[in-house]
Amino acid sequence: MSNMTRDFFIGLSNNQLLNSQAKKWGFVLGADKFVAGTTIPSVMETVKNLNAKGISCTLDNLGEFVASRAEAEQAKDKIITLLETIHQENVACHLSVKLTQLGLDIDQDFCMANVREILAKAKEYAIFVNIDMEDYVHYEATMAALKTLHKDYDNVGTVVQSYLLQAGDDLSDLKGIRVRIVKGAYKESADVAYQEQAAIDRNFIKLAEERLLEGTFTSIGTHDHHIINELKTFIQEQGIPNDQFEFQMLYGFRNDLQQKLANEGYHFCTYIPFGDDWFGYFMRRLAERPQNVNIILKDALYT
Ligand code: FDA
Repeated sequence: MSNMTRDFFIGLSNNQLLNSQAKKWGFVLGADKFVAGTTIPSVMETVKNLNAKGISCTLDNLGEFVASRAEAEQAKDKIITLLETIHQENVACHLSVKLTQLGLDIDQDFCMANVREILAKAKEYAIFVNIDMEDYVHYEATMAALKTLHKDYDNVGTVVQSYLLQAGDDLSDLKGIRVRIVKGAYKESADVAYQEQAAIDRNFIKLAEERLLEGTFTSIGTHDHHIINELKTFIQEQGIPNDQFEFQMLYGFRNDLQQKLANEGYHFCTYIPFGDDWFGYFMRRLAERPQNVNIILKDALYT
């Protein structure tokens, strides 16, 4: 995808007016291909269907540009209800949360109190909670929060983005903490992030191999079959046990490959976003791949 098109969609993802308007539209533009419903009962159906196929899930209650305490508390309450539902329904499922949704931009102490409440409930139910990594503006605060929280809660982990120049050093600091490795979804400057795809991919493989050898549980979050195949070979050659890692992909992407990896006996986890605040997430997915735009356009023309 050209940089201009990518920037266009990333620009849309950051447009607060469109994000708030889209909540009233319901799913349009084919967003339902990548977002699994708006309610907890509807997303639970998706989780159960995937579990039945040998795939575990991580749920993301979508929410962007949270600017008031009331919104952050509402998000926290919904996430706690989600934890209770996962526990009651006894599904193979954990959570992915974003600190900005829980008040990071409002007041860090307030945000930490919200996350602690979530982690305490999750720990009671033995559910893992992943803190997703957002844009670089929030990077240092997210890493600092993670390290503080992990002292009290061993059921929390985070994401390392291979486009960041500092990813290797930071990953070394996270020994013993569960991590998902991804390429990175935001537009970052050359001061902090690799700009060339080849460098981002090389760094992804380097980080994943280091972690697989180090031994802490690692999620390999990518749809890139080149990377997956290279890591599968590495895993075989090094005799890395299956229970030390999983592959992860986003809901609606490469369903055949998701099922194939699960059928091959790898732990596989689908990341499932849900909720009415879908616009920013959806625009970031369109920014990643021209084919995603083509799929949407084709659907719009032929339905
Ligand atoms: P990329 O999009 O670079 O594609 C590489 C190649 O793979 C393509 O050229 C093509 O050959 C093949 N390919 C990819 N998609 C395909 C498709 N649908 N069909 C056929 N071939 C395809 N980001 C972030 O910043 N913070 C986060 O917390 C997360 N969390 C997260 C969780 C999970 C589970 C995933 C999978 C991803 C994230 N991301 C993320 C997003 C991530 O950073 C990245 O933007 C996207 O995953 C896109 O990069 P890929 O590695 O998937 O391949």
